[in-house]
Amino acid sequence: MSLIRGRFQKEADEAVSQYTASLPYDWRLYHYDIAGSIAHARMLAKQQIIPEDDSRAIVRGLKKIEKEIEDGQFEFKPELEDIHMSIEARLTELIGEAGKRLHTARSRNDQVALDLRLFTREAIRDVLQGLNALEERLLGLAEANSQVVLPGYTHLQRAQPVLLAHHFLAYFEMFQRDLARFKDCLKRTDVMPLGSGALAGVSYNIDREYVARQLHFREISRNSLDAVSDRDFVIEFESAASLCMMHLSRLSEEMVLWSSSEFGFIELDEAYTTGSSIMPQKKNPDVAELARGKVGRVYGKLMAMLTVMKGLPLSYNRDLQEDKEGLFDVADTLSSTLKVFAGMLGTLIVNSGKMAQALDKGYLLATDIADYLVKKGVTFRAAHEIVGKLVNWAVTQNKSFREISLAEYQSFSTWFAEDVYSITVEQSLSARNNPGGTSPEQVKEALESARKILAGQSYK
Ligand code: ARG
Repeated sequence: MSLIRGRFQKEADEAVSQYTASLPYDWRLYHYDIAGSIAHARMLAKQQIIPEDDSRAIVRGLKKIEKEIEDGQFEFKPELEDIHMSIEARLTELIGEAGKRLHTARSRNDQVALDLRLFTREAIRDVLQGLNALEERLLGLAEANSQVVLPGYTHLQRAQPVLLAHHFLAYFEMFQRDLARFKDCLKRTDVMPLGSGALAGVSYNIDREYVARQLHFREISRNSLDAVSDRDFVIEFESAASLCMMHLSRLSEEMVLWSSSEFGFIELDEAYTTGSSIMPQKKNPDVAELARGKVGRVYGKLMAMLTVMKGLPLSYNRDLQEDKEGLFDVADTLSSTLKVFAGMLGTLIVNSGKMAQALDKGYLLATDIADYLVKKGVTFRAAHEIVGKLVNWAVTQNKSFREISLAEYQSFSTWFAEDVYSITVEQSLSARNNPGGTSPEQVKEALESARKILAGQSYK
């Protein structure tokens, strides 16, 4: 008979047991479950709710169980429903009657909330480290290529020259926002729910602050009904992960495009590409593609969890058991994506020659030529039209701006003079010298400030 079917005359139907069991996935919480139980058992003894000897036996037993699980010696019995029951049952097997005192002043409802918060706290720390390592690679890449210029795009059409470092620093900004979101979500995850009991609190003289200190929580939950039914921290984590994966998928898309023969801007290291089973010439950017593709499952898990929570009455409902698989998958997906991505960025080769070629052909200096006319006194709208016509004509002649003669320029506007040839990529870049712009001076400062940010961030 199971530990909790005292009032029943029948065992659960086999299909029902399988349907309701969470053990196949929540075994992953064992470490947090044991840590929580150890803190709880110590508190129970300190408060003289259970005998000191029993508490010591419990702690010893739990440590032994943790080792059994880690060594692959632990027998997971499907009929024990979840990791909490499995550990408790084994504890009683190991230490006898004392094991049956562990669940005093506790419910699985506050227990599982605790375990999940401990898991999520750890997952957030792992993501913070992963993001920090990725930023390190990204910044390294920007610094190593600080002089490289590439066509900046809008609508995926060549638009204006930008520094490659400026481009990479755009992603640095996105990842900084991700870091901030995860740190913020950590605050609301770092709340200790144990002591909420099943829903109403417990009737023993417990010391919740003591348990919180043992487990390094910043604070304790303030409302027992909320504490056993709140999964906002899961949703916040999954939502921050969704945004972060979205950023990674944008970077992925650029890695895919840039490594194609059409662009040829970068070459991905062989360790981060795969071959084709049929086309021998292929070197496919699968890591980037998979990262782009895995966003789908992360968004999906977020949507699933939002839907699980919608319309749930207070307090604990079994629906909440559906929180785990999604959370685990999101944590695993994001963590592994950050890891492979850092490796991919750390090994990619920049082909600055290809970027320069692309700059040459795209009439990327058109805005600068319009600005040139404006500085001579032409209105911006008129200048825009003049240069539009000029480009249109140059395309038919297959001429770049440099190849257009002064007479030809002047046939579009008499304001053109010899100094039109001083409009170059370098000049175009340096002209964009306001905060946030792509001038070498601004980018140098931006690189330095990113370096400082990284030096001040410690997620090692
Ligand atoms: N396996 C359960 C879950 O994940 C643990 C809590 C069970 N509580 C209950 N009242 N049945 O939510």
